[in-house]
Amino acid sequence: MRHRLHSKDLSYDEILGLLDRATGFLKTVRGRERLNLAEGKILATLFYEPSTRTRFSFETAMLRLGGHVISNADMGATSSAKKGESLFDTAKMVSTFADVIAMRHPVAGSVAEFSTGSSVPVANAGDGAGDHPSQGLLDLFTVQQEKGTLDGLTWVMVGDLKNSRVVHSQCTYLAHFKGNKFVFVSPEALKMPAEIVESLRAQGFEVKETEDLESVMGEADVLSDTRIQEERFASPEEFKKYFGVYVLTPALMAKAKKDMIVIDPLPRVNHIDPAVDNDPRAKYFAQAEYGVAMRMAILAELLGL
Ligand code: NCD
Repeated sequence: MRHRLHSKDLSYDEILGLLDRATGFLKTVRGRERLNLAEGKILATLFYEPSTRTRFSFETAMLRLGGHVISNADMGATSSAKKGESLFDTAKMVSTFADVIAMRHPVAGSVAEFSTGSSVPVANAGDGAGDHPSQGLLDLFTVQQEKGTLDGLTWVMVGDLKNSRVVHSQCTYLAHFKGNKFVFVSPEALKMPAEIVESLRAQGFEVKETEDLESVMGEADVLSDTRIQEERFASPEEFKKYFGVYVLTPALMAKAKKDMIVIDPLPRVNHIDPAVDNDPRAKYFAQAEYGVAMRMAILAELLGL
């Protein structure tokens, strides 16, 4: 059975296939229409960690495909997990009810563990600091739509690169494309994991690391922004050291290329000045629409539609 657990499981052709399929679904999303492709099918969303966009986005995608949704947004507190039920047993149960499952969990690897008990396809909607395969795909889709290509771009990734599952997913996918350059901007303690940096370099990509965002703003074709991931820190004191370390402001935007774009999975905490929102290069709200189309593509593929 096919699951969507890890960004690394997708081939170049499969990524292109999903991007194509998502392009086809954009009209449905923008027109707020409903197809009948997934008629009679049920998506279960199981979230053990907070979410606004990802859960609603998967659910909207399923509804626009013509399917149905059952949902628990607070699995850790209100499901039988609270009574000690294993992920395996929960998966056995939920896959009796639903035809496809989207799941988020605070522990890396737990969505894969869950999938071993599931008799239906499982999509990873974020597992701890590990991976966020659907977000990475919607980010690529946003860039493809807005920049017209996924090759030959300089990606400046800034923020908590150690703990952001989103930038990890982006790097995995981007390694399939040609001629991209990577500039990783973070405090020393929150650097991109060494295995990602080494893997990109081993594949021939140019990778630069710095703590200074301002000095590299002018290089970016894509600024991939992400918040400091508070919930991944050992203590509030540790987190406070980094809160507010990078704030995207109009002054910084003035140093960037005219056709650069800013993407960010959100939520915004304090790391983007709201004065940047009206800059036409800011795509972080527009991304939500691309996300629904991409998740329609992911669900359609998982359901074999
Ligand atoms: C991201 C996540 O949950 O990893 N958000 C999202 O899915 N839209 C990024 C984040 O929480 O910072």
